[in-house]
This record gives sequence, structure tokens and C-alpha cells, in this order.
Amino acid sequence: MTALDAVSIITTKRDGGELSDAQIDWVVDGFTRGAVADEQMSALAMAIVWRGMTRRETARWTGAMIASGSRLDFTDLPRPTVDKHSTGGVGDKITLPLAPLVAACGAAVPQLSGRGLGHTGGTLDKLEAIPGWQADVSVPRMREILADPAIGAVVCAAGADLAPADKRLYALRDVTGTVESIPLIASSIMSKKIAEGTAALLLDVKVGAGAFLKTLDGARELATAMVELGTDAGVRTVALLTAMDTPLGRAAGNALEVAESVEVLAGGGPADIVELTITLAREMVALAGLDIDPADALADGRAMDQWRAMIHAQGGDPDAPLPTAKHTEIVRAERDGVLTRLDAMSVGVAAWRLGAGRARQGDPVQAGAGIEMHAKPGDSVTAGQPLLTLHTDTPDAFDGAQAALADAFTIGDFTEKPSTPLVLGRIEA
Ligand code: URA
Repeated sequence: MTALDAVSIITTKRDGGELSDAQIDWVVDGFTRGAVADEQMSALAMAIVWRGMTRRETARWTGAMIASGSRLDFTDLPRPTVDKHSTGGVGDKITLPLAPLVAACGAAVPQLSGRGLGHTGGTLDKLEAIPGWQADVSVPRMREILADPAIGAVVCAAGADLAPADKRLYALRDVTGTVESIPLIASSIMSKKIAEGTAALLLDVKVGAGAFLKTLDGARELATAMVELGTDAGVRTVALLTAMDTPLGRAAGNALEVAESVEVLAGGGPADIVELTITLAREMVALAGLDIDPADALADGRAMDQWRAMIHAQGGDPDAPLPTAKHTEIVRAERDGVLTRLDAMSVGVAAWRLGAGRARQGDPVQAGAGIEMHAKPGDSVTAGQPLLTLHTDTPDAFDGAQAALADAFTIGDFTEKPSTPLVLGRIEA
């Protein structure tokens, strides 16, 4: 019998050994209760960063994090449940049109979301730009919304009891240089998604300059680990690898992204947002076992009706004017040509500095702050034409945003039309 004490668990992993199920259960439970000290968990996390975990260890670790709190159960709902998780990108507002669209096709979409940190925005921050909208929904109310065919989708904050071990561990990893580990990231994301009680899950794993994972190989490795974890836990799971070199759509920032999402639901909006929304919706509808083309529900206005009901159900007014920032500044093209590059990371950092994102958990965000993009790669531009409009309530922020944008775009010769596929790969069990 292996000794159950923190030091031997740390040294086993440090020396490249495999942790037993009992060791994993013990250390995750002990950490959640405060019996395993932060410095011991930090050392173990660092050993995992270096040595990795096997598929069995990662699945057990995920299970232990789920068991640290409560697990929601929607199996008695009259509609099949399916959710989506994105690893985060600049201008990624896809959840906003996607959740009501998939609900309009007959699925129930329970989405427990987070607030943004750093250069990618959080879905809750975006929806909170809508006057009156509330992120906190009780579990009984969540169940009522999901069961109602006229609403069918809820996007809300995860309660404190959902995978509390992950909340503590993620905060510790953030300050100990131990975020970058495929098994730790995969188990962190999947513990929350499995505990949320969805029967099926689509993962949108972003790849590129504006994403957490910069290379296709890294993204494929994370996607595979997450698909395995979902499948092992009985959740039908598929992952798409999608491009994040350029921001999605033409807006980055909370209220600006809500406005763009509403345009998509009204039948317009940028082509990349429409394409990705329909692509992800088709995957989700298939995962839910429904035989319906979401493109029809978008075109005939059912998704918009569902959106309005979803916003109302959480106290929001879908007709209220969205907040706007007090100050704007324009970035113009310096020459004629074709925009060949618009760097997602630079735009994300600039939007964040303008006030759309937060540096520390709990900081406020500005609803109206962000960036409108008047040209995207492939568009012809003329000298002096506006490329970007920067929005903020705090004009002191313009200098920092402009600095972040100093090398954000390239204008090339007319012949250089870039071609950029959105979906780069698909992984299923
Ligand atoms: N997002 C999470 O929820 N956890 C991680 O470890 C990384 C990103």
C-alpha cells in the first residue's frame, strides 16, 4: 500500500512515477479541505508540469475535482442537453448567437461561464453589458429555463460549489507558473464542464497568435486530452480546432460584441461569425441527436426569438440601448493596399487596456470599451481610411492601447489576398 502523505506523492511525481487512484483522491480532497498546504500543492503542480500525467491519472484527477463539489443533473429534462466551451479568443462572442440558435433547434443549453481575465473577454462580462441582465441563476430556476422550449438556454455564473478544488488550484497555478500543463488545463476545464451536468459537449479549441495555444500540435494535444476526459466520464464530446490569428468578427469589447451578436441573429453580421456560429451549431445539434439544420433557424428568426426570451429570463431588456463609451479615437491606414494581417493578440491587449478586460479577478470592466475593426484581412484599404475605432471611458488609456497596436497590422500590395480557413481540425473519440 502506497503511503498517503503529501511529501511522498510529490516525490513520486517528481521522480517520474505514476500516482495511484488513492493518492490522487487523497491529495485533491486534502487540498480542498486545507489539509494539504498550498506550497505542497504548488510543488506537486510543478512536478506535473514537468512529468505529465497518464490518461488514467488525468481522468482520476478530474473525477476528484468534480467530487470536491456538487454535480448538476439534467437527465430528467424533456430536451437533450448540449454545451460548448471555447478556450478563449479575441472577439469570440460566438456563445451569444450560438446558445439561442441551438435552443431554437430543440436542445437545452446549460452554460456555466466565467468572467474574462487578460486579453480575452468573458461571456458573462459581455452579457452584463445588457441593461438588467443578471449572471446569477439558482439551480431550480436554471432547470425551469432549460425545460421551457421558448427559452431553452441559460448562460450563468458557476456556483461556488462547482468543482471547488479547481477554483483553489487554478488560483494557485496562476501565481506559481504552473498553468501550462496539458493534463492540468484539460482536467481544470473538463471538471467544470462535466460537473455542470451536460450530456454532450462541443469544445472550440482556439489556435494561433491570439489564443492560449499558439501551435496546431499543442491545440490538438489539449483537444485530444479533453475529448478523452469527456468520453471517459460519459459525456459525448467533440473538439474543433479553430483559427485565432485574427480577431473574430469586427468588434472586441463587451457591448460592441453584444451588438454584433444581435446583428448575426437578425440575419446580418460578419461572415466569419456567421460561418463559425453555424458550424458549431451543426456539431452541437448532431451531438444532441437532433436532425435539424441550424441555418434555417437562424434565417427564419427563431434564433432571435429565443435570444430575446433568454435575455428576458435573466432580467435583461433586449430592446434597451447598449452602453457606449465616452471617448473614441481612430486608427487610420497609412497607405493604399490590402490588409494582409490584423493580429489578434495586439487587438485583445489594446481592448483590455481600453477597459474592456480586467488585470485581476474582481476588477470592474467598462461595458462600452473596446475596438471596432473597419477592415479585416483581405479587405482593400486606402490611405487615410479608418481601420480601427478605439472606445473607452478613460481617455488616458488611449496611449497604452495605441502602443499595443503599434505592430498590429500589415498593409500589403493588392495582389496579396490572404486565405484563412476557420476550422483547422476536428477530434472525436
Ligand atoms: N481555463 C481553465 O478553466 N483552466 C485552465 O487551467 C486554463 C484555462
